[in-house]
Amino acid sequence: MIPSEQDLATFADVDSLQQAVADAFCQVVIQAVKQRGTAKVSLSGGSTPKRLYQLLADRDLPWQAIHWFWGDERNVIPSDPESNQRMVREALLDRVGVDESKIHAVPVLVDAPQEAAQQYEQVLRDHFPGDEFPRWDLALLGMGDDAHTASLFPETRALQERSRWFVENWVEKLNAFRYTLTAPAINSARHAWFLVTGSAKRDALKQVWQGPNQPERYPSQLIHATRWYVTEDAIVQA
Ligand code: 6PG
Repeated sequence: MIPSEQDLATFADVDSLQQAVADAFCQVVIQAVKQRGTAKVSLSGGSTPKRLYQLLADRDLPWQAIHWFWGDERNVIPSDPESNQRMVREALLDRVGVDESKIHAVPVLVDAPQEAAQQYEQVLRDHFPGDEFPRWDLALLGMGDDAHTASLFPETRALQERSRWFVENWVEKLNAFRYTLTAPAINSARHAWFLVTGSAKRDALKQVWQGPNQPERYPSQLIHATRWYVTEDAIVQA
């Protein structure tokens, strides 16, 4: 359903959206560190958040108290241009000099994705001991023009997963495996934010918000976002 006014922030352009997300990111992380001594963040891949990560590199954050995780990853080695790990390191982590002990990337095994996903699930469980699902301080999410989020793509097996936290997911249309948090492992976040920009997302967003409840077709419907950051050109005007 359409987010309430308090859960939806709209922007005329991508830059103002990303600045606003950077501001809110800092508020949430600083608050988490004050309250719990640390902040655990699940990062999105894709092009929209990349600029956000670059903006964060210039902010004043308690860097050594933040643990960085990935909400999804491509089945490629870290040096591959498609790697979300590479993108985040180049845009943010390498620029700030975050200690490796705070960086928890998916241990991709291109030829053994199931094993890699199981290993990463164990990493997550080690960092969220006792949680039924990982209690992220913040999970950042993008949405594809097919209404996928993380690597929960339409008509894929990961959409059905209700007990595992992190899985390998065969995506027929990509002819490739992806790695992704499951829906319950995203919905456990204290804050789960979608960043959606561009007219190419308009139809998908309309279906996710106002379409029939068909998460197989519109996987972003599975996510209980606490906030949507959306540019005006991604919203169908009434
Ligand atoms: C990825 C992302 C993916 C992304 C969407 C939107 O690995 O690509 O996690 O879910 O968020 O595809 O991508 P854009 O923000 O680049 O449109």
